[in-house]
Amino acid sequence: MNAENKKRNVILDCDPGIDDCLALMLALRSPELNVLGITTVCGNVPAALGAKNALKILKRYGRLDIPVYVGEEKPLRREYVSAQDTHGEDGMGDSGLSEVEEVSPLPGAVDFLNRTLKEQQEVSVIALGPLTNVAKALEADPQAWRRLREFVSMGGNFKSFGNCSPVAEYNYWCDPDAAAFVYENLPVRIHMIGLDVTRKIVLRPDILEYICQICPEEGEFIRKITRFYFDFHWEQEEVLGCVINDPLAVAYFIDPSLCRGLDLYTGVAVEGIALGQTVCDEKGFWKKAPNSRVLTQTDTEGFMRLFLSRVAGAEEPQLSRVLRQLYPAACRNSIEGGQQDA
Ligand code: RIB
Ligand code: CA
Repeated sequence: MNAENKKRNVILDCDPGIDDCLALMLALRSPELNVLGITTVCGNVPAALGAKNALKILKRYGRLDIPVYVGEEKPLRREYVSAQDTHGEDGMGDSGLSEVEEVSPLPGAVDFLNRTLKEQQEVSVIALGPLTNVAKALEADPQAWRRLREFVSMGGNFKSFGNCSPVAEYNYWCDPDAAAFVYENLPVRIHMIGLDVTRKIVLRPDILEYICQICPEEGEFIRKITRFYFDFHWEQEEVLGCVINDPLAVAYFIDPSLCRGLDLYTGVAVEGIALGQTVCDEKGFWKKAPNSRVLTQTDTEGFMRLFLSRVAGAEEPQLSRVLRQLYPAACRNSIEGGQQDA
């Protein structure tokens, strides 16, 4: 909550997507947030499919009152390349969950973003997928975006290697023109939750086992949608578990102390071998004012404390006992990662 203890108005722009689903679950379980709507964009899966997946999460939490709007079906310029190899054909680990019949997704994500920014107060946007919707909306009505409160984007990377090219992270690689446009034109600072910090957030088998022990229904659901993702991570990077990028963006929006970073000017490469790479001007070569806060360190244990308490209902003093098991003293209560704060 902010000073007045008010819920913070937020739109989640996403491409569900397994980690997007976990991020939606965290957001819906967090009393600080008033989720005004969900917009889906072409990314992990086509936007229309992502919208159906978002409805499945909303239904599980009895929140079909929250509208879901379908956004852009293809990037601004590039051919659309999904990430269904990572998230499954259905975008939820090929878990075969039944479709939501009670409500349908609505068209017009871009219009919803701009309308809501104009009609509501203090609206923030947490972007968990490619920035195509945001770029289209910003281009269509820049005045609306001058009312934007805060903007957090899961995407990019500072010093970490890419996940879909040696140097590029998927969200910004999928639509580099949109990312470049947003980084050049958004009127507020972009909080960039990139791979440097999200790679520290691993849903490990022991953590999933804890969730299953204390909240079997949630645990089994998470196990169902992440099995595909676990297999992908083992085959691709011999990681036991799965990196859950998007929930960190939501957690950071709720509690900014979970990450530290640098205020830098960031540009996005839109062509060539480095297509989609975020180029963060750490040394000020380009003498441009910072347009982003590039998060470079994160409190992994602090994130997991928030995630487990909200999504699995973990309670003290058990939660602290289990976190001591999960994160031995060596890295507890510490901000992990690279660069110091600015
Ligand atoms: O590169 C990771 C990001 O791309 C995550 O948001 C994941 O869901 C995909 O959208
Ligand atoms: Ca995503």
